Amino acid sequence: MEKRDFDKDAKSYDLKPGRVKLAQDVAKAVMSEIKLRDDMDVLDFGCGTGLVTLQLQPFVRTITGADSSHGMLDILRAKIAERKLTNVKTEFIDPEKSVVLKNKYHLVVCSMTLHHVEDLVYIFHEFYNCLLPGGQICIADLDFDEGEFHRDKTGVVHSGFDRAEMRRLLIAGGFQDMRDVTAASVVRESSDGRSREFTVFLMIGRK
Ligand SMILES: C[S@@+](CC[C@H](N)C(=O)[O-])C[C@H]1O[C@@H](n2cnc3c(N)ncnc32)[C@H](O)[C@@H]1O
Repeated sequence: MEKRDFDKDAKSYDLKPGRVKLAQDVAKAVMSEIKLRDDMDVLDFGCGTGLVTLQLQPFVRTITGADSSHGMLDILRAKIAERKLTNVKTEFIDPEKSVVLKNKYHLVVCSMTLHHVEDLVYIFHEFYNCLLPGGQICIADLDFDEGEFHRDKTGVVHSGFDRAEMRRLLIAGGFQDMRDVTAASVVRESSDGRSREFTVFLMIGRK
């Protein structure tokens, strides 16, 4: 499948108010489900321009924004420099290689990224391995959307997700105490021009 060029999208990524609001809603849901602490190291996988990363940043020891787009990471780095933040790191994930997460975290957050990731079993294995014992995971993504959410479907591998199926995959990958909430709801024109509501879940679990 043709890959989406997130480098091209990066400069204008934050200009869509709907995107910013969605990231704020996801971050709020993470914070209402997980008690963030100042001794926590967090990974935001598929961080983009850091819309979620920077909402969580004030409440944790460190947060690492990992992404496969240099363009997205450049925008996040500019924000880090502008705000003189000392606890936000960035990590480039080479899209041509299998993802290998080397460091250990208390929490992995992944917002609106998994619908671009083909092999969920593999990425869940990496998330599991990079968590400290008892570490937590928060995955936000679209509920199954019949392929209507994205007008540009380049690089969209999953048309949203069935929560029960994702929960099953996470449990098979070793995660426990899975639960989910609805983190956000977005009303927008679907790919065929009709107005429809799309919901975004937050799935929470622990190692
Ligand atoms: C829709 S954006 C979401 C950005 C951010 N999490 C947010 O909620 O605003 C998806 C991001 O995932 C990144 N991405 C896609 N596939 C990836 C992969 N295999 N590994 C790491 N990042 C990936 C893209 O570069 C992009 O920045």
